[in-house]
Amino acid sequence: MSKKPLILGIESSCDETAASLITENEQGIPIILSNIVSSQIAIHKEFGGVVPELAARSHIEKIDWIVQKAIDESGRKIEEIDAVASTAGPGLIVCLSVGLSFGKAFASSINKPFIAVNHLEGHALSPKLNSRLDYPYLLLLISGGHTQYLNVKGLGKYKRLGTTIDDALGEAFDKTAKLLGIDFPGGPKIEILAKKGDPIKFDLPKPIYNKGGCNLSFAGLKTAILKITKTIKTEQEKFDLAASFQKTVEEILKKKTKIAFNEFEKQNNTNKKVFVVAGGVAANKKIRSMLINICEENNYKSLFPPLELCGDNAAMIGMVGLEKFKLKQFNDLDYPAKPRWPLDENAAFLKGSGIKL
Ligand code: KG4
Ligand code: ZN
Repeated sequence: MSKKPLILGIESSCDETAASLITENEQGIPIILSNIVSSQIAIHKEFGGVVPELAARSHIEKIDWIVQKAIDESGRKIEEIDAVASTAGPGLIVCLSVGLSFGKAFASSINKPFIAVNHLEGHALSPKLNSRLDYPYLLLLISGGHTQYLNVKGLGKYKRLGTTIDDALGEAFDKTAKLLGIDFPGGPKIEILAKKGDPIKFDLPKPIYNKGGCNLSFAGLKTAILKITKTIKTEQEKFDLAASFQKTVEEILKKKTKIAFNEFEKQNNTNKKVFVVAGGVAANKKIRSMLINICEENNYKSLFPPLELCGDNAAMIGMVGLEKFKLKQFNDLDYPAKPRWPLDENAAFLKGSGIKL
């Protein structure tokens, strides 16, 4: 039996401090030995959003015991670790620097390779932690900072098919929640409130619904919600607005995903049609079931990470580390933190006013 790589993954790009040990079995199926995630919700709650300086301070306070806990729970010894993989971007630079510096120092102290990981690639590969997934596949990445359709051709090989031109979908959920007076982090609570409401009570806009290919836009939706919240008086109307928002988002994703299917098929000469949905918003059960339905209608196999691996975690960072380790894709210890690090470096920057779609 050959010795399988043992990778320490570290994540600190935003408000989760996380560490994980992963390896694989004889068949090459990844095994998560430990997966520790410490959230900072209590710290940021009173400010209604993530405060970078406080987030960084908390990462510094926790990183060493989180890594220690991940090693202890894995049942393995430090000497057995073959490489250390840390998130290097994108994210808040003060936060990234903590996990990145810690990972580099740790790798250097045990004299093992260091691997810099793109956080978005972590989300992109997260379904590999519990399912077999071959390239190419179509990815919908829906997180707090990103909303993109990507043709994933291989490790590090991404072609962006569509992106949000303003707010990310998770951001739209969070801002809507805030306008409805829901405590931070409110995004996940929208679908719970939505269950009690009437989804056709409010007619909300669907920006660039009929143009712009599979690019998306959510800023106009937020502005409409802001106007409506000024007029609503009852709890029931609040539920109705949450339900109308949830339904509108589903309609936008349904239409744009069908366009992305066409784009993907034009670019890939393959019968294997696989659609992966990853990132925090992939935890939304109604969005999941709507996307599963359109996959069935269009002969796509749908894959989602397990719910606990949709949000930020270090197992997905270890997963990228494991793939890069096998290809000997190591990085130098002067690798910089990159606040902006698109998966498709060649894609045009599509944010801001005056964009022609
Ligand atoms: O991937 P993630 O944990 O962090 C980033 O990389 O951004 O995603 C966090 C985002 C937040 O905006 C959060 O509101 C959203 O995912 N989210 C949800 C749900 N659970 C998390 N949005 C809608 N419905 C959910 N159930
Ligand atoms: Zn994330």
